[in-house]
Amino acid sequence: MGKNLITGGLGFIGYHLAKLLLDEGEEVVLFDVVSESKLTKDIRDKVSVVRSDLSNWVQVLDAVKDNNVSCIFHAGAALPPTSEQCPAAAYSVNVTGTFNVLEAARLFGVDSVIYLSTLATFGPGVPPIVPNDASQRPPNMYGVTKVCGERLGEYYHSRFGINFRGVRYPPLIGLGRFGQAQSAYTYLVIQEAALGRPYTIYVDKSTKIAILYVKDAVRSLIDLKKAEDGKLTTRVYNLYGFTVSAQELADKVKKYIPEAQIDFKPDPAMIKAVENLPERMDDTLARQDWNWAPRYSIDQAVENFIEEVRANKAIFE
Ligand SMILES: NC(=O)c1ccc[n+]([C@@H]2O[C@H](COP(=O)([O-])OP(=O)(O)OC[C@H]3O[C@@H](n4cnc5c(N)ncnc54)[C@H](O)[C@@H]3O)[C@@H](O)[C@H]2O)c1
Repeated sequence: MGKNLITGGLGFIGYHLAKLLLDEGEEVVLFDVVSESKLTKDIRDKVSVVRSDLSNWVQVLDAVKDNNVSCIFHAGAALPPTSEQCPAAAYSVNVTGTFNVLEAARLFGVDSVIYLSTLATFGPGVPPIVPNDASQRPPNMYGVTKVCGERLGEYYHSRFGINFRGVRYPPLIGLGRFGQAQSAYTYLVIQEAALGRPYTIYVDKSTKIAILYVKDAVRSLIDLKKAEDGKLTTRVYNLYGFTVSAQELADKVKKYIPEAQIDFKPDPAMIKAVENLPERMDDTLARQDWNWAPRYSIDQAVENFIEEVRANKAIFE
């Protein structure tokens, strides 16, 4: 059995995915442009790390050639706000990087490529419960480049038979998410309370957002990898966890940390950015084709996330 190469492996999702793969007895190679992360300290001696750049064709080919790779989980990407501050970087990491991954898979006979896409590939104007095949007209560079990655993967599947599969996540919450995208309040309100720090939410109490717990998100990648090909009716699947208002989220945190100091200072620009994201995704196809279902309720996710932050305080020092 070959190894699992996780691009962006030293990031948030890469870490949780690596842990789950290791628990299942699999071999893991982390491919990332950085070589250090406080998050990965506990698994560092169980994985190999390749410090390389997705946008560098030779480095991607070398990583795949040298590591007996049978599956690439392609998580490496430039996310907002970096993608919007530097569209050229977003293009070279997210588009050229995805092309390089697919070419490497083709040249070295990699069994499967699992792609991490996002609900940000849908723009405003989609139906309230976004169908799997809704039109994708994203308003920002991040969404544009991630749509492009989906289409490249589908092309490599139909033209070269690459076993390309992908998921579209809503924003995730969980230990080790450090980004500052518009959805950041959803994890910061839980993380900061668990660290005993006050937190000010920058959207309205009534602002709603779709989220998913990272442990369900990484489980989905392994389930999709194992799914029977004949049962797949599409290559990229919407996933969905739960929709919460900011007030509901604050209430959940207070259920587990009654002394949490949470207040609201709504910022109209941030509210608009969050409202641009769909509130709900239709994940029926994933449920039908490969039995996708989140295992964590919102309460279980908040409780587990708080426990993990408290057990890993060193990450935040
Ligand atoms: N976090 C979320 O809520 C969320 C939601 C939807 C989709 N996604 C997708 O999941 C994937 C992983 O996201 P994440 O939250 O773990 O982000 P992250 O920023 O924590 O991890 C991304 C990793 O990619 C690495 N990277 C960036 N440029 C690179 C390059 N040129 N070469 C190699 N590595 C490079 C970064 O160093 C980082 O470790 C992304 O593709 C993202 O689009 C994330």
